Formats: sequence, structure tokens, C-alpha cells
Amino acid sequence: MSPDSIHMVVVGAGYVGLTTGVCLAYLGHHVTCADKDPEKIALLKRGKSPIHEQGMEEVMSLAAPRLAFAERAPEVVGDADLVLIAVGTPCKPSGQADNRYVEEAAREIAAGLQPGRSYTLVVKSTVPIGTNRRVAHVVEQTLADRGLNGKVKVRVASNPEFLSEGTALQNMLYPDRIVIGVDNPESADILRQLYRPILEQTFDPPPSLPRPTAYSLPPLVTTDPISAEMIKYAANAFLSMKISFINEIAGLCEKVGADVTEVARGIGLDPRIGPRFLQAGLGWGGSCFPKDTKALHAMGEELGEPTLLVDASIAVNQHQRQRAVDRLQDALKGVRGRVIGVLGLSFKPGTDDLRESASLDLIRLLLEREAHLRVHDPVAMEQARTLHPDLDIEYCSDPYSLAQGADALVLATEWPEYRRLDLGRLSASMRTPVLLDGRNLFDPTAARAAGFTYIGVGR
Ligand code: UGA
Repeated sequence: MSPDSIHMVVVGAGYVGLTTGVCLAYLGHHVTCADKDPEKIALLKRGKSPIHEQGMEEVMSLAAPRLAFAERAPEVVGDADLVLIAVGTPCKPSGQADNRYVEEAAREIAAGLQPGRSYTLVVKSTVPIGTNRRVAHVVEQTLADRGLNGKVKVRVASNPEFLSEGTALQNMLYPDRIVIGVDNPESADILRQLYRPILEQTFDPPPSLPRPTAYSLPPLVTTDPISAEMIKYAANAFLSMKISFINEIAGLCEKVGADVTEVARGIGLDPRIGPRFLQAGLGWGGSCFPKDTKALHAMGEELGEPTLLVDASIAVNQHQRQRAVDRLQDALKGVRGRVIGVLGLSFKPGTDDLRESASLDLIRLLLEREAHLRVHDPVAMEQARTLHPDLDIEYCSDPYSLAQGADALVLATEWPEYRRLDLGRLSASMRTPVLLDGRNLFDPTAARAAGFTYIGVGR
């Protein structure tokens, strides 16, 4: 075992916990991923990933000698030096992030800590500001209940994640930055040791995840726990705002005949703005932006500090779905009784995650107006069938059968395979060849030449 290798437990094997645990084991640490879901653990023990994430199974198998899985955190945390909490923080009805699972994890961890030892407890979940303090308190209480007051040393640190679904392992191994929120030098030291292979890029990349060319070493941002917690919210809110901003400009572009993709290119070249997250479309979804913007709004309400920009971003995002329906309504002179084929269900390509997906929002709005919906997605159809049995939609095995006799196609998720579709073949088989390109994936000239009435977003 290398002297730098850390014995650690990750509590919560969702996409954040699993990605983090698997990559850290790949980098040389000894990691046990604990999760209460017995089916998930059984699957992981067989070397199978419960989530669709590029490179996951490959890295799991490469890391296998140092990677273990367990159902019960209290049974495995005792021997660890570092325990990382990566459980979900769902939305409360108020919009606030619900810390229930974080507290439960903290309690369970404390139930398994051993007297005479010291531990670093790292909060990776996206949590309400001040959760670090709360976790420290819950741990202390549980230890006191066990009669271990002062007999176990626990330091709590914050370490927000910036992993995007679909590229989570890539983001983990080659981050832009690593942020740690600590209030003592020992926590900073162990976290630096944990991330050293990434900070110094001393590892051999897994074959399917090569180091990006011109990648430079990531900075380690060391700050206090509260600022670290806020960095996470501010990052996600800013990115959501950037997308909503370009979507608002897209609406104006449609009115004046400008092309928002040209506008995004023209402003994105200004390094103060930057080109990323300026793709106009049906708006943002997923498990993070919607939840984190709502949580910031709720935070503002609680603290009497309005979050006007965040609120506007949320409103623009909701409006974006409605605008797409209105444009279909105009193009088809009413959607009731029309057959509409939707390409893409997941909230973005590269994942089968359907949470807050723009596609599903659009489908629901169109079903309310009594359209007949056909859908296709390269990976998320099974998930949709299982999670949304209520949706009265027709699942199609391929885009061509979806288009057959349809009145309109909507491109809702920009899966790369859709870019290669034969647009002429699609349009020729439709009753009315209307294409609403909700992600500006296609070239409007080519789509029109293929026979479509092309409707983009902001172009
Ligand atoms: C987001 C952040 O990008 C990560 O940095 C963060 O760690 C993660 O949330 C999290 O908090 O865990 P993710 O939700 O996986 O990651 O997805 P993104 O790639 O950020 O996309 C979010 C949504 O924005 C998608 O629906 C996507 O279609 C949309 N989007 C993105 C646009 O509409 N336009 C763009 O230009 C970019």
C-alpha cells in the first residue's frame, strides 16, 4: 500500500458518491462505497453500474482491488480515516434542500466510529448553508449518546462537487478546480493528500478517459466551510442564469430575425463571458439546476434577501417550455389530435436521467392539449416506462417509425446520433413535415432543403 493511500468510506452511491469513490479507488485509495439500497449494492458487487455514466464500469474493474461495497455504513466506517457523505438532498415543498438524509448519514457514521481514533468527515452533498455545523453537532450528539464524549475526534469539512452527469468521471479526474472548506489544518492536509493524484496528475489515465490535451493542473481552492457551501450554489445558479439569459435573447432574436447561435458565438468569444452554457433551447433540467435555484430562492426568502436574478432565471426557464408549445400550436394551427414525435427524453444527452427533463415537461404540456405523443430516446425509454407509467405516450424503437405519418417532430435532447438522421427520409414519411429543433441541433438550411418547415430556438 502506498503511504499516501487513504482508507475511506463514501456514504451514498448515487452518481456523485459512486463516481467519487470509484475514481479515488482508481487513484490508489482504499474505498468502501456504502448505500442502503441492497439491489444497488448487489449490482455493484457484480461489477455493474446502476447508472449510465461513460467509463464507469471500466474504471470500476480497474479499481476493483481497492474498491468494496457495503449496505451498512456503521459497520465499515470504524477503520476509515476519512468518510465522505454523498447522499441526496431533495427539495422540500418550500424549495429548501432537505437535509434529512445527510443527518441520517451523519448519525449512522457516528454510530460506527471507534474511540481513540480521529476522522475527517467530508460533506460532498449540495447542502443548505451551515450544514457543516449541523453535521458536527449531530455527530457529537450521537457520540455523546454512545458515552463517547471527547473520546473520538471528528473534523467536518466541506468539499462541493462539480460533476456533470454523462461526463462525471471525466470531470472528477480532470477538474477545473477542487474546492475544500476547512477550519483546521489537519482537514486541509488529508484532503490535499486525497486529491494529490488529481492535483498533480500523477496517474495513468484509464483507457477510455484520456487526459484532455492542453489540460493544466487544477487549482485547490481552500476556504472556510460556509464559503465552500456557497460556492456550489453560486456556480450552479450562475450557469442556470447564463442559459436563461441566452434563452431570453433567443426570444428577441426570433422577433427581429437574428440567429441566436451567431449571437452566442459573438458574445462567447469575449473571455469575460466565455462560450460555454450559451446554447439556447428548451431550457435547463436535471437533478441539480432546478433544485439548487429553488434552494437559493428559499434561502433568500428565509433570510429576507431577495434573489431577483435567480428567480428570473427560473421564470425564463419555465417560459421556455411553454414557448415551444406555443410555436408548435402556431405551426400546426392547433395541436389537439395531432401526432407529435419527440426525439429525446433524458434531461441531456449521455444520461438516462429524466429528472426535470424539458422533454417530459413539454410532453405533459402537449398531452394536456390532447396531442398524441410518440417518443424515442437512445437510452432513457426503459426509465421512462418504469418511472412514468402514467404518461399516455407511444414508445418507438427508432426515429423513422416515430416520424411515420406524424404532424411534427420535436428534437428535445441533442443526442449525437440524432445529428446523423436522414432528414429527407424523415420528412418524406410525415403527414406535415414540421420540425421544432428544441436544441438547435440541425442546420436550418439543410433541414429546409430536406423538406421540413424548420423552427429553431432563436433562429
Ligand atoms: C450541473 C453542473 O453543470 C455541474 O457542474 C454540477 O456539479 C452538477 O450540476 C451538480 O450540481 O451536481 P448537470 O445537472 O449534470 O450538471 O448538467 P449540465 O450539463 O450542467 O446541464 C444542465 C441542463 O442545462 C441540461 O438540461 C442541459 O440541457 C441544459 N443546458 C446546458 C442548456 O440548455 N444550454 C447549455 O448551454 C448548457
